[in-house]
This record gives sequence, structure tokens and C-alpha cells, in this order.
Amino acid sequence: MSSQVHIVEMGPRDGLQNEKTPVSIAARIAFVEALVAAGLNTVEVGAFVSPKAIPQMASSDEVLRGVSQVKDAEFHVLVPNEKGYDAARAAGAQVVSVFAAASEGFSRANINCSIAESIERFRPVLARAKVDGVKVRGYVSCVLGCPFDGEIKPKAVADLAVTLWDLGCYEISLGDTIGVGTPLKAREMLRAVGAELPVANLAMHFHDTYGQALANLYAGMEEGVRVIDAAAGGLGGCPYAPGATGNVATEDVVYMLEGMGVKTGIDMDKLLATTNEVAGLLGRPPVSRVASALNAKRKRLSAL
Ligand code: HMG
Ligand code: MG
Repeated sequence: MSSQVHIVEMGPRDGLQNEKTPVSIAARIAFVEALVAAGLNTVEVGAFVSPKAIPQMASSDEVLRGVSQVKDAEFHVLVPNEKGYDAARAAGAQVVSVFAAASEGFSRANINCSIAESIERFRPVLARAKVDGVKVRGYVSCVLGCPFDGEIKPKAVADLAVTLWDLGCYEISLGDTIGVGTPLKAREMLRAVGAELPVANLAMHFHDTYGQALANLYAGMEEGVRVIDAAAGGLGGCPYAPGATGNVATEDVVYMLEGMGVKTGIDMDKLLATTNEVAGLLGRPPVSRVASALNAKRKRLSAL
């Protein structure tokens, strides 16, 4: 368990995409900069999707351009099709993420096409990215359950992960989009995917809706997975995944890992300050347990 873990920070994209309170472009840029300053060197900063579908991610081009001077960091953006790829590239994207779903119901709700059609949309994106020297990450959503289709078979997840890998994705992020998974099911799913693809190229993207994300991550780490998607403050959710709440909180993951002797290189004080700043913008306290505990501790200490 003591080997390195890589955290991919989701706050500015998955974290903000479902928020009702508008967040300015300047604040989104400042959020990304603060995350990098806290040691999170891989950050998903936006999405080149329809602004009618996800208005919160409009102007992702300005966010990406706004952080282009930040050193020693890798910025990811979602692209659902070639139109998104064109816009992402025009804004300077070097890493893009395509996103498919293991269930037909969620694929249709989220990106308005079948799973097979989504792969056909990604195919030219991957082909062009290869020529352009752009890295492509691939998501599989609903790996542990779908809000429309219910239970998802591990084989369906593994087959889709292999398809994305064969198209040229360098890493496959496995999304428990609605946070319904439990550790043994997470393990079964990861074993099914790990039987087909190198475990080093898998990531866990677990939402914490039912409070299972840390336990599921631990189960995945026992299987050898070492890339974890997380969002500062436990922000997140998808408007097309009814009932889903945020990603596992970055500070909860960092606390767990550091407590296990796994060095993350993340400065908890800076991360907490960033989480508190964004919570202030959104007008409510962070849902993260570690942020709540540390904020309460600080309050106690400052009252002494
Ligand atoms: P569509 O209706 O099938 O596409 O939408 P279309 O090609 O027929 O175009 C319809 C309209 O969208 C047109 O505009 C296009 O120009 C525009 P109109 O003529 O109506 O004004 N359009 C675009 N605009 C900007 N950027 C683009 C783009 N493509 C078309 N790239 C589409 C398909 C995918 C675009 C749409 O369904 C969409 O944007 N969906 C949003 C999906 C999304 O962002 N979901 C949330 C992120 S996924 C997630 O959260 C899960 C994840 O976190 C992992 C996990 O948790 O499991 C990744
Ligand atoms: Mg997500």
C-alpha cells in the first residue's frame, strides 16, 4: 500500500458542473491555481460540451487559457465529440477526456446517443489526438450502477474499457457516477477490468452519494489501482444522474492516504483553504468530513 498514488482533481469540472450558484471565470481560474499551489498537479478544469446542456461549463476555453501560464501542472478537459475537440484544441488543450457509459440509459440521458454511437463520435477524436500528440483519457460511467438501467455487469464495464483502450486512451477512469457501489462490488468490477487491461492504467472515479467512496477506494487500492479522481470539498454531481452527489472529497482521500503512510505531496492547509474559499463562493459549508473536522478544530483552537 505504500507506493505512490496519483490524485486527479475534479473540482473545477465535475465539482462545479452541477452547481446552481454561478461561479465567475476569474473564480474558476483562481480555484485551479489554488489547487495546483496545494500540490494537485493534475486538474480537470472544464468541459467542451453544449452550454445548453451544462451552462456551468460555458467559457471553459477562457478558463483553460487563463491557467496556461501555470507551471508543472497538467490540465484536462472533457470533450464529447469533434466539435468539442476543435474548441479544446483552439484553447490549447494538451489532454482531453472522452466519456462513455456502461449503460445505455445513462449514455442516452447524458450525451444523447447510444454507447456504440458514442464510440463512433470518439473515434475521430482519438485519431486526431494521436496525430496532434494530445493525450486522451477515457471515462466509463455507471460502472457500479445506473440510475436508469439499475445493475451493471462487470463484463459490460470491462468490454467498454477495452474498447476505449484499443482506441488509444492512455488511462481509463471508472466512474461510480451515482455512488451506489460497495467495496466487494467495486473489487469485482476492478478485477474484471484488471483482467483485461494494465491496472497501472486504471483510475477510480467514485462519487460518495452513499458514503462508500473511501471504502471502495481502499478495496481498489488492494487490487493495485493507484490513480484516484477526487474533488476538493466533495463537490460534484451530474445533472443527468438523478440523485447523485459529489465526488469523494480530495481532503478525505489525502487524509486516508497520508494516514496509511502513502505520500501524496499535497499540502492539507492549502487544500483546506481552497475548499473553504469555494464553499464561500457557493454559500454553503463543504460536505467533506475532513474539511468539517479541521474547520471545527481550528475554531476550537482559535477560541482558546
Ligand atoms: P446532441 O444533441 O446529440 O448533439 O448533444 P448535436 O450534435 O445534435 O448538437 C446539438 C447542439 O449542441 C448543437 O447546438 C451543437 O452545436 C451543440 P444548437 O444547434 O442546438 O445550438 N454541440 C456542442 N456545443 C458545444 N460543444 C460541443 C458540442 N457538440 C454539439 N462539443 C452533446 C450531444 C454531447 C453535445 C450533449 O448531449 C452534451 O453536451 N451533453 C452534456 C454532457 C455532459 O457534459 N455531462 C456531464 C459530464 S459527464 C459526467 O459528469 C460523468 C463523469 O464525471 C464520470 C462519472 O462520474 O461517471 C465524467
Ligand atoms: Mg463524475
